[in-house]
Amino acid sequence: MLRPKDDAPLPGPAPAAEPLIALTGVDKTFGPVKALSGFTATVGRGEFVTVVGPSGCGKSTLFNIVAGLEEPDAGGALRFEGRSCHAAELLGRVSFMPQRDLLLPWRNVVDNAILALEIEGRPRREARAEALRMLPEFGLAGFEAQYPHQLSGGMRQRVALMRTFMFERDLMLLDEPFGALDALTRTMMQRWLLDVWQRHRRTILFITHDVDEAIFLGDRVLVMTARPGAVKLEQRIDLPRPRRPDLVTAPEFIRLKRTLLEAIEEESMKSFQTSQETAR
Ligand SMILES: Nc1ncnc2c1ncn2[C@@H]1O[C@H](COP(=O)(O)OP(=O)(O)OP(=O)(O)O)[C@@H](O)[C@H]1O
Ligand SMILES: [Mg+2]
Repeated sequence: MLRPKDDAPLPGPAPAAEPLIALTGVDKTFGPVKALSGFTATVGRGEFVTVVGPSGCGKSTLFNIVAGLEEPDAGGALRFEGRSCHAAELLGRVSFMPQRDLLLPWRNVVDNAILALEIEGRPRREARAEALRMLPEFGLAGFEAQYPHQLSGGMRQRVALMRTFMFERDLMLLDEPFGALDALTRTMMQRWLLDVWQRHRRTILFITHDVDEAIFLGDRVLVMTARPGAVKLEQRIDLPRPRRPDLVTAPEFIRLKRTLLEAIEEESMKSFQTSQETAR
């Protein structure tokens, strides 16, 4: 019979599950500009984490690293599914919706939606059939043959989101997906996204400038410092799900908003002062 070694773990609760992704002390420098400095955060499987921070603090840079498009400076550590890795190894393992919607004007809705699958080498016919099945869920039924210029802003964002969802990866990065929408469309899209997220059980890292949006959507909000970006504050959002529209008037929501706004404003002031000094 095998005897447990002296250093065998004691019986008891299993260690907390490894986060899906973990960044530790990540730096990124572009020539004279330090975009990120000591950025440390984790995202758990199935979590919805929102990121807010002043303009230019390194949010998109962070996403480019996690999407595998940029390598961080030497020294920091990246772990994905419990294994240490280079950013380049994440390329293709994460679905990424960049800050601009990037629909190709010469492709219709379906052909825009299947772009990532096509690049991956999936047969076009199969990808198109799948896209057609998904159209109703994304509020695009009947619009398959339309071109981007024939769609409203909200619809274009849904096509871009559908493309990101169709590229089925555990981790989705959404860089200000609703930034250009009017308030009403934006609120509708937020509720819709939560719905789709819950059905598809993905992990989402979501950048926004809107604190209400960050709280309404997130399990956690990361507030970033002014550049060089690091995590200034990590705020857990223990509000019940499904999140209801009237949540934004609840005292707990307003308390969270006050805390977050204070942190963001402090950093935005720093960022503004730095840019004025640079301009002088
Ligand atoms: N490829 C690059 N080459 C040189 N500098 C870059 C590059 N990418 C980003 N930067 C610089 O890094 C800093 C952070 O930029 P980033 O786009 O990550 O900010 P952000 O937080 O996403 O801003 P915003 O809220 O305006 O989208 C900026 O000073 C930017 O000029
Ligand atoms: Mg950005």
